[in-house]
Amino acid sequence: MKIFKIIILPILTTIILFSSPTSLIEKAKKNGLLPIPTKSSELLKIIDPKGVLTKDRIELGKMLYFEPRLSKSSLISCNWCHNLGLGGVDGVPKAIGHQWSGNPRHINSPTVYNAVFFKRQFWDGRSPSLEDQAKGPVQAGVEMAASKRLVEERINSIPEYVALFKKAYGNNVKIDFDKITSTIAIFERTLVTPSRYDNFLNGKIDALSKKEQKGLETFIDKGCVTCHNGIALGGDMQPFELRNKYKYRDVGGFRGDSKNMIKVPTLRNITQTAPYFHNGMIWKLTDAIKEMSHLQVGYKLKDKKNGGFILDIKPITLTNSDVDNIREFFNSLEGKKPQIIYPELPRSRDNTPKPEPENSTSKK
Ligand code: HEC
Ligand code: HEC
Repeated sequence: MKIFKIIILPILTTIILFSSPTSLIEKAKKNGLLPIPTKSSELLKIIDPKGVLTKDRIELGKMLYFEPRLSKSSLISCNWCHNLGLGGVDGVPKAIGHQWSGNPRHINSPTVYNAVFFKRQFWDGRSPSLEDQAKGPVQAGVEMAASKRLVEERINSIPEYVALFKKAYGNNVKIDFDKITSTIAIFERTLVTPSRYDNFLNGKIDALSKKEQKGLETFIDKGCVTCHNGIALGGDMQPFELRNKYKYRDVGGFRGDSKNMIKVPTLRNITQTAPYFHNGMIWKLTDAIKEMSHLQVGYKLKDKKNGGFILDIKPITLTNSDVDNIREFFNSLEGKKPQIIYPELPRSRDNTPKPEPENSTSKK
């Protein structure tokens, strides 16, 4: 009898503590975690619901993404802050734009990889789509500082660009600011990075190591999935500082939207996008995980009453080994980036508006 007990106990504990890979996949999906579809037809439905992607437009969008002449100084392209060779970020705490001006609110550049999966763009969620978003940075004084007119004049003065727009959209295309920026967004729609995590959720059970599986399970059990869910493991608005104040909240003073909600950053490629949080004040990933568990609670909607919500709230507490396991799980979110061949950009012409790197009084 005694021997029987000794043998049966460890078996039971194993069953209770670890889900089998297949039941972990079920559990992940039940908790709102979704893989990037492997079938390109399914992926296209998500990244291109309006059917605007074509090879010519994507290629042109890529050129414009790398085009520094969209900035007043002719020095700053989208890739300056969202470097596709560096996980889609610049790797500095606050973004540095026109004339080396740091973002006045100490705002960190988020990654453009997988941004197509976000429900909202920007840390305060003020933009609903990539097309809408792309108009912002070109004009922002602290980013590329160019007027719509300057951008239109620069592009229209270069015959190769005019020809490429015609090829992409037909001969009657009007190459205005909106067309230029929405073409950049078309390129951005292709910046998705499938990873071992996706393989796992798509059924390849040995795609994650045991420790990564443990980390994924901890991530689910501790309630991180309340906010980090969907394909991007983020991308929608959520409250921040539910339980405690963020250690660096006074740096830059950003508090989110009018309801103090903040756009949840994607965790895909998170190992490559330090420094972390909206003001880029935390460099080490394990410190970011610890800060999250200190700040946040997981919650579930229990009921709705009188226009309000009743929430089932669970504070998140992580042991050092929980933090370790989640950190390990994050390795599996490093995705395969699309191969991008650096485009050769057509030369400026005599009538192309000149760079304005200095603090000039030009109206353009
Ligand atoms: C000077 C640096 C800089 C440049 C140049 C720049 N960005 Fe950004 N980008 C940022 C910062 C900072 C934010 C966050 C701003 C905010 O939330 O208020 C951002 C946000 C974004 C987002 C939203 C992502 C998210 O997670 O919410 C996208 C997409 C994006 N930029 C694409 C572009 C494109 C396309 C260009 C070129 C047309 C561009 N950016 C140029 C710094 C820059
Ligand atoms: C209640 C919602 C919520 C929960 C629960 C939550 N997060 Fe977050 N998370 C956010 C928001 C919002 C941000 C962005 C905050 C900011 O930078 O201002 C964030 C940021 C992060 C970042 C930094 C990302 C970056 O690119 O800067 C990491 C890492 C992170 N969360 C991991 C976790 C982990 C691990 C858990 C579980 C222990 C967790 N989060 C639980 C909402 C949540």
